[in-house]
Amino acid sequence: MQYKLDISATPSSNESDCIVVAIFSNEKQAILGDAAQELDKKSKGTLTEIINCGDFNGTLEQTQMLYNVEGAQASRVLMLGCGDEESFDTVALNKAAKAASKVIRSSKIKSLSFYLADSFNKDDMAQAATQIIIGHGDCDYQLLDYKSEAENDSELKKVSVAFTDIDKLNKSELKTAIENGAAIVEGMKLAKDLANHPGNVCTPTYIAEQAEVVAKDYANIKIDILEEKDMEKLGMGSFLSVSKGSDEPGKMIILEYQGAKDKKQAPIALVGKGITFDTGGISLKPGAGMDEMKFDMGGAAGMLGTLKACAEMQLAINVVVVLAAAENMPSARASKPGDIVTSMAGKTIEVLNTDAEGRLVLCDALTYVGKYKPEVVIDAATLTGACIIALGHHICAVLSNSDELANDIIDAGNTINDRAWQLPMGDDYKKQLKSSFADLGNIGGRAAGTITAACFLGEFTKDYKWAHLDIAGTAWEDKDSTGRPVPLLSQYLINRAAEK
Ligand code: BES
Ligand code: MN
Ligand code: ZN
Repeated sequence: MQYKLDISATPSSNESDCIVVAIFSNEKQAILGDAAQELDKKSKGTLTEIINCGDFNGTLEQTQMLYNVEGAQASRVLMLGCGDEESFDTVALNKAAKAASKVIRSSKIKSLSFYLADSFNKDDMAQAATQIIIGHGDCDYQLLDYKSEAENDSELKKVSVAFTDIDKLNKSELKTAIENGAAIVEGMKLAKDLANHPGNVCTPTYIAEQAEVVAKDYANIKIDILEEKDMEKLGMGSFLSVSKGSDEPGKMIILEYQGAKDKKQAPIALVGKGITFDTGGISLKPGAGMDEMKFDMGGAAGMLGTLKACAEMQLAINVVVVLAAAENMPSARASKPGDIVTSMAGKTIEVLNTDAEGRLVLCDALTYVGKYKPEVVIDAATLTGACIIALGHHICAVLSNSDELANDIIDAGNTINDRAWQLPMGDDYKKQLKSSFADLGNIGGRAAGTITAACFLGEFTKDYKWAHLDIAGTAWEDKDSTGRPVPLLSQYLINRAAEK
């Protein structure tokens, strides 16, 4: 897909196959946005007529396709409800753009112009443009590899973010915003593809192969893959206690992106949980809905997707990505409840529940990444069902040993409309991880499951600033990957690059 800034034409002279114009709702009647007004004038009141007959009132996500509007070059005009103009922010904009994109998906439209960002004030326009791209890209996605016939055969090639009042625009800022949006869409697509592929395709080996493709695509990305025998030498007994239960060999995948001029500049490290299928192991999960545990590598997918977006945007920072990829299976070689293993950090862990495997693979990855002397480390993991109970599917949890880092992450999420909410940590919670025999147990009981999981990881992240994202509720929805937290982390990296 080609994403472009379009400032060449008025709505009526725009030659796209379809133009999307904003209609706002107020208490009494719908109000035409700037682009809709211009079209209404040229067409001697076509849009007003439709509004006056009462069928279209501008509520958010309402759509009405018009054909052959008098005076318009475009063969189609999509009236798009954007809700109350006062509260039309990037969240509403994202929803509106998605509603429009869904209509467009089932059409033969080849080129499309969105006139939706006009109503934002100058400071927010760039962010609005990014949001239109992300909203569209998110909707435009489909994994077709396993369908004999495509469900829609969209012919869309070109999407533009268009403006009516071009005098007040900062063109280069808007171009960057659209390029960033396109890069984030690319990253999300990679993350979605990886996560949506079933467990019999997306194995740790497959993730390693896809990471190799990313490394090959960008000259400034290097890759190194640790095999199980390498991990044995490094003493990663905790990771290996998970991977040994499966016939699929576990992989620790390390990617180094050098975007800063100074090679030695401390990197931002991104660590992802990559359980390509989580049966629970010997502490077997119930059967219902277990298919969804193919998404248990959503953290790894998100980190690889973020790296791709970062490389596309050519951000001037250094980034290290570590993907801890393994399959959690019950077998004669699998860990048993009560087994005690030794982590790379030297801490012993009593595996009281083999279904709390994410923290077991992550703790060794978090220890390993310390060798890069990272400026900060962020991990993302579909770590606890408890997180879904706490925050649902809308917002992910962030837990950190640095409130400053947590706030930077929350800010980035708010900017890009991929939100995070901080949960506390602390010694009272950490106590729940006591083991009778080992340094740590791998579970902390039913209470505060998301927090105790983070406290477990926190025992391995004392040497650096660290934040943990629990994306159990946000990585997928309705059996479809969301591509989150690629937007949040991409925005975090954009913000960091801007600081330097
Ligand atoms: N991958 C799961 C967490 C999960 C469950 C994510 C459902 C999304 C939906 C994780 O490995 C797990 O099984 N966690 C256990 C931890 C418990 C045994 C302490 C859980 O949440 O039940
Ligand atoms: Mn599990
Ligand atoms: Zn899991």
